[in-house]
Amino acid sequence: MTISKPPVEDFATDFDHTDPEWVANPFPIWDDLRERCPVAHTERYGGAWLPTRYADVSAIAHDTEHFTSRTVVIGNGRPGEDAPPAPMGVAPPISSDPPFHAIARRLMQPAFAPKAIGPYEDFTRKLCARLLDPFVGKSQIDISKDYAEHIPTLVIAHMVGFPQEDEERFREFVHTILEAVDKPVEERIEDFQPIMEYFEARINEHIEDPRDDLTSFLLNAEIAGQPLAPEHIFGTMVLLIVAGIDTTWSAIGSSLWHLAQHPEEAQRLRDEPELMPLAIEEFLRAYAPVNMARLVKEDFDYNGCPMKKDDWILLSFPAANRDPEVFEDPDQVIIDRKVNRHAAFGLGIHRCLGSNLARMEMRVAIEEFLARFDSFSLADPDDVEFSQGQVRGVRKAVVNLG
Ligand code: HEM
Repeated sequence: MTISKPPVEDFATDFDHTDPEWVANPFPIWDDLRERCPVAHTERYGGAWLPTRYADVSAIAHDTEHFTSRTVVIGNGRPGEDAPPAPMGVAPPISSDPPFHAIARRLMQPAFAPKAIGPYEDFTRKLCARLLDPFVGKSQIDISKDYAEHIPTLVIAHMVGFPQEDEERFREFVHTILEAVDKPVEERIEDFQPIMEYFEARINEHIEDPRDDLTSFLLNAEIAGQPLAPEHIFGTMVLLIVAGIDTTWSAIGSSLWHLAQHPEEAQRLRDEPELMPLAIEEFLRAYAPVNMARLVKEDFDYNGCPMKKDDWILLSFPAANRDPEVFEDPDQVIIDRKVNRHAAFGLGIHRCLGSNLARMEMRVAIEEFLARFDSFSLADPDDVEFSQGQVRGVRKAVVNLG
């Protein structure tokens, strides 16, 4: 549920990433801000800043001295500095600062290395086939609801060893954590209760009956010879479900939404499959789904911006990816763009751990879609819905098939 709020008058002084104008089409807003006010401000959410140039997004993402990742999702409250365990935060490693961050991240790295991800490709391909085959010969498919939303949800559920039948609940969890951010704090706390209960139940099942999956991997992991703290395991499990689902769902949805509007590019990818890796990087750049937040540690002047302790920073990797200082023709999607050092997976120490998995899922999802449908186009370009909040992606887009 969205709380009714005054509309934004000027994004330079009153920005809101949940404003309907931003949700529908943020690109002109960022282009305007980059020219007029490259680090925008708002009093909403208790005070927040928005850098829109690549250089500022990069500088802040790399600056762990002045900015903390204690919490990375902007809301109306601020988690206390001591809750839960200060060095790790609620969802390690994304909520951890140095030096603990490196320990929590190193622990997870083997599970997301290319060698570890490879075996999941077959599962993903069969899943895509199972989702798409019923639509062969049909006239329409919703690329988000019928396809994209299921892929990362079922892949990550498989990886962590949670029941595939619970996939709808995982998307509800993601909605609560990432989208319903403008609700009052008390309601947010209440909404988190079922999430905690669900994860505790699954973790306890794995303690009683260990398996060959990511949950048991975490339960067996050690830091300096000691098992992980229960809050660490819980927080990382929640992170994997949240980070693994709507990010990749959004990236797959946006890629297909783009191709549905550019049939000649879809055909080019069918004819020249070797272009797929470049096209995927370009979809990631142009439709980067993920914005992440930081909190200002102490009062601090950032290039003339008087930042106050506990002000939010909305790190817009998507805005950085459209900066003309760094990318030629940034608002054009060029599927064989050669130079493309985009920031979709973040910059600095928190760079995405799941990028190999995300790229594999995107590639397989697009390949399987293109293989089945010779032509597809958006049924009604005005009837497309996008998510609200820090992760942006298509949530409804019906395409005509054939
Ligand atoms: C296209 C899909 C994805 C995009 C665009 C994306 C983007 C990002 C970004 C921008 C960050 C940096 C956050 C920050 O600076 O605070 C990040 C971190 C992270 N991502 Fe992803 N992500 C994607 C998919 C995934 C998947 C599938 C997983 C695994 C389940 C995953 C796991 C993580 C983790 C664990 C971190 C935290 C790393 C750290 O703090 O060191 N992501 N992601």
